[in-house]
Amino acid sequence: MKKTMTICFTNNKGGSGKSTTCSNLGAAMARAGKKVLMIDGDMQLNLSLSFFSEDWVLEMAAGEKNLYHAIGKQQDLTDFIVHTPYEGLDLIPSSTLMSSIEYELFTKWQREFILKKCLLKVKDSGVYDYILIDAPPTLGGWVMNILCASDRVIIPVEASPWGMFGLANMFEFLNQVKQIAEGLEVLGIVVTKVDTRKNYFKQTMETLREMEDIYVFESCIRVDSAIEWAQDNSIPVVEYKKSSRSAKEYTALAEEVMEHGSRESKH
Ligand SMILES: Nc1ncnc2c1ncn2[C@@H]1O[C@H](COP(=O)(O)OP(=O)(O)O)[C@@H](O)[C@H]1O
Ligand SMILES: [Mg+2]
Repeated sequence: MKKTMTICFTNNKGGSGKSTTCSNLGAAMARAGKKVLMIDGDMQLNLSLSFFSEDWVLEMAAGEKNLYHAIGKQQDLTDFIVHTPYEGLDLIPSSTLMSSIEYELFTKWQREFILKKCLLKVKDSGVYDYILIDAPPTLGGWVMNILCASDRVIIPVEASPWGMFGLANMFEFLNQVKQIAEGLEVLGIVVTKVDTRKNYFKQTMETLREMEDIYVFESCIRVDSAIEWAQDNSIPVVEYKKSSRSAKEYTALAEEVMEHGSRESKH
């Protein structure tokens, strides 16, 4: 039986590469022979759109087989899993109704732990090596649920001045959540959308590497138009264009995450 590691992708800054990183790490891990479940925790449906057509995603969002309904009814998530076109890679789709999730959670008993409880059976079944959760760009009760359901957090950071601004809020929030999220650790920061021609990138890396106790992944993800073409076709770039720069970088990042994750794992 497998020991499942749950990793979430959080950063309150939108556009920092959470969904792109979650989808491509999932696809790269599956290509490496791992069994992976991805959970789309954002009403923007970007993780679901990385694998399925707009029509399919909207149909799922309007129906009952999505994360919003599972959380509302506090159901075991097993019944909400769909297979992606890729071997070993599954998904729980989201819904636009997730926009009201904060309100829904408000009246629930032990409201920070609802996702954790809904995931319990899937995690204990030992079917998956990894569960990857894509979070929305917020820092509220729902992201708290995502963090409480996770063993590890990966923070994608855009190599830009505003990408760096706000990281302090993120860490302050994480430190608060850690008080109730048993065993939660930051696995590391991934620097995304890097333009190596700009000196600002070097400054970003220096600032991040100076932060104590935070691992910065060696593999950075540079700006690459193949990512946008891949997303336009609902295919992760590691499948869409294997020879592209970003496909290679995401494959290297997946190896680093798997290696670093197993080394750091205390659970
Ligand atoms: N390495 C990259 N090169 C080019 N565009 C990228 C790259 N990473 C992400 N993007 C684009 O940036 C936007 C934001 O990325 P996304 O993963 O959706 O961020 P988030 O989930 O944090 O909001 C998307 O339009 C995506 O296509
Ligand atoms: Mg996103």
